[in-house]
Order: sequence, then structure tokens, then C-alpha cells
Amino acid sequence: MSEGEGLNIAIIGATGAVGGDLLATLPKSALPLRELRLFASPASVGRVVEHGDRVHRVQALGEDIGSTTMLEGVDLAFLALPSEAARFVGPILAERGIMVVDIGGSLADRGPLVVPAVGADSLQEAARERIVCSPSAPGVLLATVLGALREFAPVGAQGTVLLSAGAAGRAGVDELSGQVVAMFNQKEPPRRVFPNGLAFDLLPGPGAVRPPDDPLAGWTDAEVRLASEVAAVVDLPAPRLAFSLMTAPFFSGLVASLQIELEHEANMDELRAALGSARGLNLADPVPGPRRVVGRSALFVGRLRNDPSGSGGLHLLAVGDNLRFGASNNAIAIATALWEGGLL
Ligand SMILES: NC(=O)c1ccc[n+]([C@@H]2O[C@H](COP(=O)([O-])OP(=O)(O)OC[C@H]3O[C@@H](n4cnc5c(N)ncnc54)[C@H](OP(=O)(O)O)[C@@H]3O)[C@@H](O)[C@H]2O)c1
Repeated sequence: MSEGEGLNIAIIGATGAVGGDLLATLPKSALPLRELRLFASPASVGRVVEHGDRVHRVQALGEDIGSTTMLEGVDLAFLALPSEAARFVGPILAERGIMVVDIGGSLADRGPLVVPAVGADSLQEAARERIVCSPSAPGVLLATVLGALREFAPVGAQGTVLLSAGAAGRAGVDELSGQVVAMFNQKEPPRRVFPNGLAFDLLPGPGAVRPPDDPLAGWTDAEVRLASEVAAVVDLPAPRLAFSLMTAPFFSGLVASLQIELEHEANMDELRAALGSARGLNLADPVPGPRRVVGRSALFVGRLRNDPSGSGGLHLLAVGDNLRFGASNNAIAIATALWEGGLL
């Protein structure tokens, strides 16, 4: 498309948690929006989504996705779909010449994982293949922090990332809510998304645990995937990155307690200056809790501490909104970089 005409943009998965946040964020972005088309599964056909003074009708994507006229003229599609659906839909859209921004990294074997705050060199390659991926929300968080410390040459990082019920999408939020209400009313709580219960508790994972004969025995698939996502974005070997995932009973947000090993010595003032000036990152002490960062685009980082062993390195706490910071903001930054680079 030529500049000045604006972009026809599709949100695929518009009725979900990420799709809903994208819908709220896109009109405020720098992208020149001409037309917005919303899609979801056949279960949502005819559904209407209101945003501001606009009313959007949701269309259903069926089996005829390769030929449907509903996608004609679309320049860019944000995929906010469960992994299996994204793997089916993404390549078909790319084949039709639509630039696909896959949110969550389900298509990381088909297009590069990109966090523009860290670097966007691989977008030329993405433009050729028509697929580019925004990593999972914890992946965006970890890459943002490590990218901000680039001048001190991070050589490894470990820590624990707490996911909220919202990491499991709308269904996760609804189920935590249902479990809380049921427990107060002494009723049987719903246990479809979190079969072991989440209300007033803490769960290991998500993801299947690797079996004893696996070289990464005991780690979950999601943890292994997270390390490889971060490694790809910040260009570090995955074995130097080890993050345990837990699911905590809060509705939204993302919390990471991290230890980062740095090759270059740095004092606390230098580290603060680097983190404080990094794109998309706010230094904050105290660090706000996950409930307080809902709808905030930035990642909040604080509790900076030297390692007590004196061996160098840094401990910190990072908190972000899983949807706005971990999904919409990064996906829109990718789309904006593609647009500004003339790659759409
Ligand atoms: N939630 C987060 O914190 C977060 C953060 C970063 C990235 N992500 C990633 O973003 C993606 C979406 O997550 P979410 O949390 O938004 O999930 P969600 O709330 O469950 O929403 C899923 C969306 O996909 C639609 N959908 C499902 N199957 C479909 C199909 N076959 N064809 C068309 N549409 C279909 C659903 O439509 P219906 O309403 O019609 O079922 C819904 O709009 C996932 O890959 C996730 O890993 C999530």
C-alpha cells in the first residue's frame, strides 16, 4: 500500500484478552489506521464489540480462510490466537501476502521473534516471509530487562516469573473469579483452566514437566520455551538462562524476581542510569504491584541490589501488565517499525 492511504488491519482473536487490549490500544498508536476488521472463532459470529463510540461486528474465520473475501485488502493482521489456531491461520494469511504479527510466538519457527526496544534488525527477513513474532509476555519482559543492560554484557540470568490467571486468557480470569466466589459461598469451584485450583494458592508451571530421561528433566515445556525465546532476542546461549514459572492468584500482571550476571563490572549508579534511560522501562522504588500496572505500557523495575557474594551481578524486581506491556505494546511497536521501514 502507498503511504497516505492508511492501513487495513485485522485483529484475529478480537474477543480474547489480548485482542480486547489491542482494540483499546491500536487507535491511540502511531499506525495510520484506515479500517479495522475483527475476527474470532465461529462461536463468536455476529458478536458486537464496542470501543469508545465505535461498534465493531466480529466476523468468524472458517475453513475458507485461504479464499474468503473478508480478508481482501488487509495489509496487516495481528494474531491473538491460541497456539494451535495461530499455527493454522498464520501461514495461510502470509501466503495471501498479509503481514502477520503473531502475538505469543507460536510461529517462532516461521518468523523472527522481535522486541523492538531491544532491536529490530530481523524485520527485513520477516517482511520477506510475511511473519514476525512478538514473544510471550514473560519473554518480552526478560528481553527488555536484559536488552537495557546490554552495555554491561549480560552473560546469564536466573529467576522466578509469577504469571497471573490472565496469562490463560479470558477463561483464566473468569475461572479465578469463579473459584474465589465459590469458595466464599462454600460451593464446588470451577476447575477447567486450573484443575488443581488457583484461588488462595500458588501453582508451579504452566506446562508439562520434562521426563527424567530428558536432558532438561524437571523443567516445564513453557520454561524451556521461555529460555529459548529470550536467547533468540538478546543473543545469549539458552543454557545460561533459567527461569521458573509459577501461576499466582492475581487476575492480571506479570512479576519477575531476577538475578543477572554481567561480564562488565558496573556500579549501582551506572546500572540505574542504563535501566532508567531504556526504552519502555521505568525505574520505580517501591515497584508497583501487578494490580497497579493494569493498562500501563511500560515495565516497572526496581529493588536493584548487588549480589551478596560480591561476585558482581545484579538482583532486581520487574513488574508489567501482561496484556498492555507484554502483548499489545510490543506487537504495535513491531507493526510500527514495519510501517516506518516501508516493509508493509
Ligand atoms: N493473556 C496474556 O497475558 C498473553 C500475553 C501475551 C501473549 N499472549 C498470547 O496471545 C494469544 C491469545 O491469548 P489470549 O490470552 O488473548 O487468549 P483468549 O482470551 O483465550 O482469546 C483467544 C481468542 O482467539 C479466538 N479463537 C480461538 N480459536 C480460534 C479459531 N480457531 N479461529 C479464530 N479465532 C479463534 C477466540 O475467539 P472466541 O471468543 O470466538 O473463542 C478469542 O478471540 C495466545 O497465543 C497467548 O499465548 C497472551
